[in-house]
Amino acid sequence: MPHKVYFIGAGPGDPELLTLRGLRALQGCHTVFAPTPYEETFAEHLADKAIFVPFEFYFDELLERIRALLQEGPVAFLVPGDLTFYAPFQGLIDTLGETAEVIPGVGTANAASARLKKTLDLPGVCKSAIITSPRTLGDEPGDPKLRDYARPGNTLLIYMNNLPPAELVSELRTGYGRDVPIALVHRLGLPGEEIVRGTLDDIVEKIGDRDFFNIASQSRKPALTLVLVGDTLAAQEDGTWWDYRRENIWQYHDSA
Ligand SMILES: C[S@@+](CC[C@H](N)C(=O)[O-])C[C@H]1O[C@@H](n2cnc3c(N)ncnc32)[C@H](O)[C@@H]1O
Repeated sequence: MPHKVYFIGAGPGDPELLTLRGLRALQGCHTVFAPTPYEETFAEHLADKAIFVPFEFYFDELLERIRALLQEGPVAFLVPGDLTFYAPFQGLIDTLGETAEVIPGVGTANAASARLKKTLDLPGVCKSAIITSPRTLGDEPGDPKLRDYARPGNTLLIYMNNLPPAELVSELRTGYGRDVPIALVHRLGLPGEEIVRGTLDDIVEKIGDRDFFNIASQSRKPALTLVLVGDTLAAQEDGTWWDYRRENIWQYHDSA
């Protein structure tokens, strides 16, 4: 059987969050394309393997390299989080066709929800959770702005933020029309992890002069910081919805 290229959802960076299927695929590959910082954080799983940084190649060079490596054995890519959101590997996967296999992983959104111990929707509090990024909203007239999604009842998960904190907060405040809880999750599961929780009123002060979004840096690479905003972050749930579901949903299942 021809060898495969495995696009392994590697989680936010902590190898403890690799799935068993991802680990098995990785163990079977002698060549791994690993974006920084995965070559360091996954070091114990990468010993004796040839490691390449995928973003050091142009697309055609990369394909040529992959096809040459496939003559020797299967090849792995460690996909930050996983393929579901903001992953740059779609062109490779489509071009490789049947040769590509995608293994799901723990997205940063999942790991952030666990770290904050908050579900991102909550009956009566949050009606929709929206994944977005100011980098991808576009700047054509008529393109939506962050403020258009920042509505009461929406939880926002903001990836790859490139707005300075005061500007981000002003945009969110315009949309929500009031103070709401916000959390910054920086380098989740990695050395240097920091979690800053607050509200739109105090988060800029709480951030202080820490540059969580690489605003001051020359680098155009997105910072490893996820922003979560919405009332669900501070809501406290009691047993009301549990009993409602018990009464109206689950017990019909029990008697079926
Ligand atoms: C190109 S996207 C990759 C998203 C990835 N496919 C996923 O499923 O999580 C990069 C953005 O994901 C978020 N991110 C990725 N890893 C993170 C981490 N360890 N801690 C916090 N945010 C992270 C940040 O918003 C960062 O700018």
